[in-house]
Amino acid sequence: MKITVIGTGYVGLVTGTCLAETGYHVCCLDVDPNKISILKQGGIPIFEPGLEDMVRRNVAAGRLSFTTDIAESVAFGEVQFIAVGTPPDEDGSADLQYVLAAARNIGRHMTDYKVIVDKSTVPVGTADLVKAAVAETLAERGEALEFSVVSNPEFLKEGAAIDDFMRPDRVVIGVDDERAAAMMRRLYAPFQRNHERVLLMDVRSAELTKYAANAMLATRISFMNELANLAESLGADIEQVRLGMGSDPRIGYHFLYPGVGYGGSCFPKDVKALVQTAKENGHELRVLTAVEEANDCQKLRLVDKVLARFGQDLSGRRFAMWGLAFKPNTDDMREAPSRVIAAELSRRGAEVVAFDPVATHEAQRVMGDISGLSFAGDMMAALRQADALLIVTEWKMFRAPDLNAVKQALKQPLVFDGRNMYDPAWMREQGFDYFAIGR
Ligand code: NAI
Repeated sequence: MKITVIGTGYVGLVTGTCLAETGYHVCCLDVDPNKISILKQGGIPIFEPGLEDMVRRNVAAGRLSFTTDIAESVAFGEVQFIAVGTPPDEDGSADLQYVLAAARNIGRHMTDYKVIVDKSTVPVGTADLVKAAVAETLAERGEALEFSVVSNPEFLKEGAAIDDFMRPDRVVIGVDDERAAAMMRRLYAPFQRNHERVLLMDVRSAELTKYAANAMLATRISFMNELANLAESLGADIEQVRLGMGSDPRIGYHFLYPGVGYGGSCFPKDVKALVQTAKENGHELRVLTAVEEANDCQKLRLVDKVLARFGQDLSGRRFAMWGLAFKPNTDDMREAPSRVIAAELSRRGAEVVAFDPVATHEAQRVMGDISGLSFAGDMMAALRQADALLIVTEWKMFRAPDLNAVKQALKQPLVFDGRNMYDPAWMREQGFDYFAIGR
């Protein structure tokens, strides 16, 4: 089976590469010539553990190729995955311009039956819009070729994307016709493990499943963040509460970690888009609206703690920040809490010296307008002469730092930990003033 992947970002590149790894021939298209040029030279434009080697291996084996040539890519695959971005519009709804442009390109160039797969996260009803866009461009050419449109949302996590794709918990496929259903089943056959992973359903349910899953995860995070804030006032320890809650199998341990709020390319925009979809259909998702509000507040939680300690005016203060990416093992800075935290500290006159093991380059690009923000080349250098350390992303390398060295580098032994990385009692024993979340 030959496969085209349209859009070579996080999702497209992982999808294309993992499909090639199982033996398929895959052509990846992107409109960004820079990305394609990096890929053609054997590099990858993003940080994702294990991906670069896998890309190289499959390119060398002749199973994976990259192009900016739309006609060539459409001709290549009998299955065409659309994995382009769906950023939020002004009102929070998903902007479908890239998805529909990709659909029209397929309609413009196809010469035989295609299965067109919406891999991007798209609102319910998008498959119908894609169908209409393809049909319209075919009609402009005076063609009446057959095609199917399938919804196959992606559940991979950045940082663990390869494993998630190669060994999926489930593969959701929304499909309304037998021919496409059979092809999609065949396509995903190499990813079945000891039991059936494919969940076939109607297209609209598949589209909604992706938003529902992300909204649920975001809800758990905001819920825990609010509980953590309450625990602080009550003198309870949210980490103990988390363990007590998680041991109930109906609740489970996943996604119960309080912190500095969720970020990334998915949760914020998907929560917004689902709220907007509901609005357009005469519903109000009150819980999700609150989830978003709580998250906006939580991003400033560490700053609130800093202000409680230093007062409202931070001029003349310097803060070290460990972690910039929205989570570990990625260089993704989209909606990262670090951006809000650094901007607020800067607005109040502080200097911020940040360190991140992989996201610094990306951070320089997106945070360049924050005055007083600079980037350190290693984690200890960031601490020098700082009034306090703020921990914003829970990279593994921050788990067991040399606390004596930390103490010596800082002006005073003061840590604001937005990720609850250390035992408060131990930190106190080591002579630190230690402020965490919910404990
Ligand atoms: P991205 O922004 O990293 O990549 C999108 C790529 O599409 C860009 O390289 C862009 O140049 C390209 N593109 C745009 N229009 C194009 C066109 N007409 N033809 C060819 N290429 C085109 O986006 P990312 O993060 O990969 O997300 C893609 C979709 O997958 C979004 O809907 C997102 O919500 C969803 N998703 C993302 C996940 C993630 O962890 N990043 C996880 C699951 C779903």
